[in-house]
Amino acid sequence: MNWDFEPAQDEIEKAREMLLGASRICVLTGAGISQESGVPTFRGADGLWKQFRAEELATPEAFYSNPRLVWEWYDWRRQLIANAEPNAGHYALKEMEDKKEGFTLITQNVDGLHRKAGSRNVIELHGNIWEIRCTVTGEVEENHEVPLKEIPPRCTKTGKMARPNVVWFGEIVPHELISRSLRAIEECDLMLIVGTSGLVQPASYFGIAAKRNNKPVIEINLDPTPNTGLYDLSIRGKSGKVLPLIV
Ligand code: OAD
Repeated sequence: MNWDFEPAQDEIEKAREMLLGASRICVLTGAGISQESGVPTFRGADGLWKQFRAEELATPEAFYSNPRLVWEWYDWRRQLIANAEPNAGHYALKEMEDKKEGFTLITQNVDGLHRKAGSRNVIELHGNIWEIRCTVTGEVEENHEVPLKEIPPRCTKTGKMARPNVVWFGEIVPHELISRSLRAIEECDLMLIVGTSGLVQPASYFGIAAKRNNKPVIEINLDPTPNTGLYDLSIRGKSGKVLPLIV
């Protein structure tokens, strides 16, 4: 399927107007925004969950039964991401932050590409693939070794096994990150939801929360999502193409 179509001009115009009238923006992103940087998404035709079983790689049970296998998968993803650069969509959101009075970017992505593009007020809901966490003390440290010299890597303080500092299925997103996200949604003038299938909690609730607070919501995605019907505007297209047109 060729997804490189032009987004509808009237929708672009409407989104531009809505954004111009808003000074506090809250953005939620998912794997779709990094797709044009060459980072695979989770669902869809070329999605990671077509190739791999989530329960064998992205759960605490999988990690404690086979830490080596899980780390090898993360090491492979880290190598992919290390070679990836932010795309026009990431940079457009950085520009939006520079222009607006209030801006919060909530991302489910662990690739760190929003920060690499220069975005500052970023909530990384599912953690960061460039951080490791000691399985004994819970201490988090940065680790940019690509490929990893030792699998599994060890905490540099305790020498004990470390895990990726990401949220797996069956784990809870830190409460503080959820409440910061909900506060940003309550305080914004407009919410933008980009490149997420809207299937994973708690992020899948955030668009609903925005509508419960009577906030206008714009969605940008290649496909409709379960919540598309709730939103004020849903633009079909690649985020790397649409975002620069509306900022
Ligand atoms: P998904 O892979 O579920 O969804 C990606 C979405 O982006 C889909 O709706 C695509 O249609 C859309 N998309 C793909 N390329 C796009 C592009 N260039 N421009 C715009 N949209 C595009 O990714 P997430 O919704 O982020 O969690 O998935 C949520 C969570 O599920 C992930 O954080 C991960 C995953 O399992 C964990 O690992 C815990």
